[in-house]
Amino acid sequence: MNENYSLVHDLNYNIDSYINRVRSEISPNKKACVITHGCQMNEHDSEKINWILEKMGFQLCDNFEDSDLVLVNTCSVRHSAEDKVYGQLGVLKHLKEAKPDLKCGVCGCMMQRKESREYVKEKFENVDLIFGTNNIWKLPELLLDSYDTGKLQIDIREKTKQLNDDLGANRLYSYKSYVNIMYGCNNFCTYCIVPYTRGRETSRKPEDIISEIKNLAKNGTLEVTLLGQNVNSYGKTLEDKIRFSDLLYKISDIKGIERIRFMTSHPKDISDDLIYAFRDLKNLSNFLHLPVQAGSSRVLKLMNRNYTKEDYLRKIDKIKSINPDIALCTDLMVGFPGETEEDFLETLDLVKKVEFDTSFTFIYSRREGTKAYNAVDQVPDKVKHDRFQRLIDILYPIQNKKNKAFIGRDVDVLVEDVSKKDANKLSGRTEEFKLINFEGNKDLIGKIVKVHVTDANSFNLKGELCQIR
Ligand code: SAH
Ligand code: SF4
Ligand code: F3S
Repeated sequence: MNENYSLVHDLNYNIDSYINRVRSEISPNKKACVITHGCQMNEHDSEKINWILEKMGFQLCDNFEDSDLVLVNTCSVRHSAEDKVYGQLGVLKHLKEAKPDLKCGVCGCMMQRKESREYVKEKFENVDLIFGTNNIWKLPELLLDSYDTGKLQIDIREKTKQLNDDLGANRLYSYKSYVNIMYGCNNFCTYCIVPYTRGRETSRKPEDIISEIKNLAKNGTLEVTLLGQNVNSYGKTLEDKIRFSDLLYKISDIKGIERIRFMTSHPKDISDDLIYAFRDLKNLSNFLHLPVQAGSSRVLKLMNRNYTKEDYLRKIDKIKSINPDIALCTDLMVGFPGETEEDFLETLDLVKKVEFDTSFTFIYSRREGTKAYNAVDQVPDKVKHDRFQRLIDILYPIQNKKNKAFIGRDVDVLVEDVSKKDANKLSGRTEEFKLINFEGNKDLIGKIVKVHVTDANSFNLKGELCQIR
């Protein structure tokens, strides 16, 4: 077994020699499949993995049962996310019994954690290679070593993101693209595993980001989503300091980019210059994802969020006063250790005051290694589930009201796909990130069109095509 922990920056690494060897010795007539868990960061990492797989000569496929190589890109954020991965690795174990040549790799956030890595090594002897979030570029070499030796290959790095940046991406869509602007997180919210899986915050240089986006625009990208755990602190780690809003202004000037989105923002770092960007930049989408987590200032302090309920409400008021039409989205968590009924009522009060357009709601999950893991006052499961239900009972009618307010309006829609529910319809997103379904020709996929909104429920809009731009 080759277990390699390294802090070095392998800038002289020659990935092409490994890619070429896999291409000639291993991949002919072989299929590969990537199973992705977790957030947009992981989705984008999987696009990079798919890019390498294709370069190595594998034929990509969606069905792991038909594949010769399966890679599971994992998420660690909640216990349930890890359990799903273990379930899948169990299925792959059975598959390998019937198909001994099957190669199986595990990567992503879970593999950055020693506990999860040890568990995978102990329970799943069917796993052939393990790598982490910082060294996707290592895949060709690890794969070769695995074929050469038949032994488990492990390589986990704390740093060396530069080489991941140099990789291309086999993007799922040509007209909307993810772009990393920074990695890692320094916030250490007491419930969160991400700083341990993604490491310390680092920003990519603005010129590298701009040149990537210019290239994307040339190739037909209309919408970019800038990715980072806390985009508002973009630039702080760079020698030449630059604010996130400055980066937005630069991106906004790129010809062909019609929509800019970003995620995720931290409420403590939302600054006035960013709020004004929403007023001044025509192609900055009218949508802000600003996770609040909880409404009780006492709980927010225990979470190490560095803002109070009042701070959050003040910022929201300011955002709405500058841009009354902005759609607001948030993340909410119930059952953080020590959360009392009174604390929870503060969350309900906050969501009623803000009236979020959409939200992601979670039940607190204990993550080993985080500060809150050892808290003695964990909230019983039944209470957590009960609060979760009460929270969504408040959120959904508000979402419904917000969506219904769109009825009668003509909205710009980036057409993304055929509707998942009705093959005769198209689906797309408004600037406010609202999902809308309408009848239209498949040729419109990848274009921005005007749609007249005719109906709405808590989760999406319905409409009729107006005109083609
Ligand atoms: N960087 C982003 C969030 C990344 S994780 C931010 O700071 O906003 C996405 C969401 O998962 C978080 O906003 C939080 O609501 C949720 N989450 C994180 N850790 C969790 C845990 N231990 N249990 C339940 N939900 C969690
Ligand atoms: Fe996790 Fe907090 Fe960092 Fe978001 S800001 S990734 S919730 S530690
Ligand atoms: Fe994302 Fe999950 Fe990692 S939320 S950063 S894939 S732990």
